[in-house]
Amino acid sequence: MAAGRWWFLALWRSGPGTLALYGAIAVHGVLALWLLYDRRTLRMPIWEATQYAIGLLLPALLVVHVVGTRIAWWRFGADDPYPRIVLALWMQAPAFGARQALTLALAWLHAGIGVHYWLRFRPWYPRAAPWLFAVALLLPTLALLGFVNAGRDVAELARTPGWSDAMLRAANAPGPVEAARLLAIRRGFLQSYLIALILVLVARGVRHLVERRRSIRVTYSNGRIAIAPGGFTILDASRLAGIPHASVCGGRGRCSTCRVRIASGLGDLPPASDAERRVLARVGAAPDVRLACQTRPTRAVSVEPLLAPSVAPAEAFGTDTRQGREQELAVLFADLRGFTRMAENKLPYDVVFFLNRYFEAVGTAITRAGGVTNQFTGDGVMALFGIESGPAVGSRQALAAARAMVDGVAALSADLAADLGLPLRIGIGIHTGPAVVGRMGWGDSFYLTAVGDTVHVAARLEQATKDYDAELVVSEAVARHATLDLSHFPAHNLTVHNRAGQVPVRVIDHVANLPGV
Ligand code: FES
Repeated sequence: MAAGRWWFLALWRSGPGTLALYGAIAVHGVLALWLLYDRRTLRMPIWEATQYAIGLLLPALLVVHVVGTRIAWWRFGADDPYPRIVLALWMQAPAFGARQALTLALAWLHAGIGVHYWLRFRPWYPRAAPWLFAVALLLPTLALLGFVNAGRDVAELARTPGWSDAMLRAANAPGPVEAARLLAIRRGFLQSYLIALILVLVARGVRHLVERRRSIRVTYSNGRIAIAPGGFTILDASRLAGIPHASVCGGRGRCSTCRVRIASGLGDLPPASDAERRVLARVGAAPDVRLACQTRPTRAVSVEPLLAPSVAPAEAFGTDTRQGREQELAVLFADLRGFTRMAENKLPYDVVFFLNRYFEAVGTAITRAGGVTNQFTGDGVMALFGIESGPAVGSRQALAAARAMVDGVAALSADLAADLGLPLRIGIGIHTGPAVVGRMGWGDSFYLTAVGDTVHVAARLEQATKDYDAELVVSEAVARHATLDLSHFPAHNLTVHNRAGQVPVRVIDHVANLPGV
């Protein structure tokens, strides 16, 4: 520990290190007080309330440590080697030691919540989260174990007569006079902090009295109405009225999940800040869309929240597909051959068990290839590829998914061979073309789907796998987008009901024969 201390002192007690560390602490503290003032309602999700409460408590807990080490060193030249600090925390004042351990745990929790809610809408985060969580648990646990170990070492050393006195003398530990002055510094800080907190709360109260006189009315698309004091954001108004409203980042203008379409009153709203505009541009929002957490109406507005209150963090920054847009993508349909006949002889429980295994196998194949599973109906599956990455990548992903789906179904078939009688066979159709993509549904049941001719054609290609007794039928458009030579597979022209012209397709009897994708 002493060897490590040399390195961190070299960093934190250097000029730039001091500026960075104490500058960051000061800015963090001032911003926290500003946020406490700025937010109009203290109703917030439990995670946010926990982070706030710990954050406000931490300065009061940390000051004891900072004054006892850094300030004592700076003002009185008192060195703070680990033997001196651990002797004080472990033996002379164990209550201080317990408080120091609690401070460490709370500071770590505060930081952990902050980092988690900052990163959780990054696409890579769900994969990294278990590892980060393991580190987040291990690091403070090992640190505290290190402290306990050091405490035992120091207790052992302190049994040697004269060791403690000699060590304290060598460290130039503060005497009674210096200790009294350090205590006064600590008290001064605590009183100032308390006064700052009270001032913020008083300022909130005064503002509330002023703003209460001019209330604003927010009408929601479901007919509910929130009346909030002027100065409230739309999200504040929702929270005040107890109207569920998505806010994955806690109203910090980072996630875009609180966005609303302004049905009326758009012209009366204050213009969006640059930061708000950047977030809205990132999700391709229409001009009548605003972030509820950043918009403070001055007159009555009608709004339509665009994401369900239960929106998952992963959907933050998802393109604003609720509004619908036309784009080129690959659509895949798959169906299990002879399933209806097979299900006739099975108990309902067995059918559900089997279908769930089947959906797990094909769903995993689709997701791993980069697609979005869209519909599970009976034994049929629809999946979309290339929503974000475009038709070329989407076509290749769909073909890779087809290969993995066939493998997955073969593995399932082998697994359940004793129950099935006949091996399972799947038929897959893929077409790439323009479709309208959007989040559709009602209430909490919104999901991303596509409609249009491309979907219709893909479904027809899947049906054609029965006619050709093949595992896969793909349109020429898929091969073209995927830049794949399928000329050695039989070509056909398919007629699609209610559609002019024929669709040129390639019939692939076994997906394993596909060239690499
Ligand atoms: S709640 Fe995250 S941007 Fe508004």
